[in-house]
Amino acid sequence: MKIKFAILGYGHIGKRHAELILQNPNAELVAIVDIDPFQQENALQLRVPLFTHLSEFLNANIKVDVVNICTPNGLHAHQAIECLENHKHVIIEKPIALTKEEALNVQRASIMNQKYAFPVVQNRYSPTIRWVKEVLEEEALGEIFMVQLNCFWNRDERYYVPGSWHGTLNLDGGPLYTQFSHFIDVLLWMFGNITNIHSKFMNFNHQYLTQFEDSGIISFDFKKQGSGILNYSTSIFGANFESSMTIIGAKGVIKIGGQYMNEIIYCNVDKLEIPSFENPTPVNNYGMYQGSAANHQFLINNVINVLNGIEESHVALEEGIRVVETIEHIYAGRIQKKTAEVTNEGFTLYN
Ligand SMILES: NC(=O)c1ccc[n+]([C@@H]2O[C@H](COP(=O)([O-])OP(=O)(O)OC[C@H]3O[C@@H](n4cnc5c(N)ncnc54)[C@H](O)[C@@H]3O)[C@@H](O)[C@H]2O)c1
Repeated sequence: MKIKFAILGYGHIGKRHAELILQNPNAELVAIVDIDPFQQENALQLRVPLFTHLSEFLNANIKVDVVNICTPNGLHAHQAIECLENHKHVIIEKPIALTKEEALNVQRASIMNQKYAFPVVQNRYSPTIRWVKEVLEEEALGEIFMVQLNCFWNRDERYYVPGSWHGTLNLDGGPLYTQFSHFIDVLLWMFGNITNIHSKFMNFNHQYLTQFEDSGIISFDFKKQGSGILNYSTSIFGANFESSMTIIGAKGVIKIGGQYMNEIIYCNVDKLEIPSFENPTPVNNYGMYQGSAANHQFLINNVINVLNGIEESHVALEEGIRVVETIEHIYAGRIQKKTAEVTNEGFTLYN
């Protein structure tokens, strides 16, 4: 059965969702909802009904199976709940919510209305990341001693433009939600939950651009075994530098890197052959800056197959909730440490 999709939020990633749905023979695009007249004009070429508000779309009784929620982070949870309560499945862009409480409300609405809520975690489809996951499952690295995750990207005034949702606490939430939640998902997916979190936050060059810090050094223990550190920053000069993960195990070392952890940088593991991946993971390119790995087609296919009863969902909603909960724990330190000060420009400094 062809699955009918509507896109809520026709911005950067909403356009990618629409494109993939149009390309998929088992999918049909039935509507676009965006509050911005400029984006509605952009969507005219798609020749599907256009709506300004979600409620207006839901009241129009257009036949739709799935609503793809591609709006700013802080809107995801309540929009997802509105769709679920109107008996639509939802795909929720990352992060599914900005608090665990909101994420659990989404889960409750999903259960009550017996509709799926699919979180977007497309980096898991990257061949390099899948390979590391398999190596870990085979326990080829032995006991895990340490994991270091480095996320060093550039987000500057080209991205944090005045009036945008980017950089706001209530709609964006911070770099761990907007830029690096994929990598936190990968970390948890590979090594399980973390505990004993110690955080230090810095704001190097975003004092006049964002309502939150741009950098952090986070140390933690895995509940299962080993310890880890996450270093992140959006203060990198000029362009994204890298997202990398170094895994130190009793029987070997692996480092994956590149901008999206899409390359094997180093591998020295007992009796393990290093694979070569022919097709590097494509990237979502937004002109002035680059986003994440472009693997959304795998998610769309999985959603279609789940709704047609052909396969199980690759990612449970609980896994999206776990990412939100982890970031919330890490950021608990940020809230305690910030010393707010309103400047003449009206911005708040968090150093
Ligand atoms: N999975 C990924 O790799 C990936 C990549 C980029 C963005 N994202 C996520 O996707 C979401 C959108 O990001 P983006 O970069 O496309 O942002 P964007 O600003 O380009 O697009 C957001 C769109 O939502 C619309 N919108 C805002 N409020 C609305 C409302 N109440 N009703 C309807 N439409 C509304 C805006 O007009 C805009 O067109 C974010 O949550 C972001 O974290 C995920």
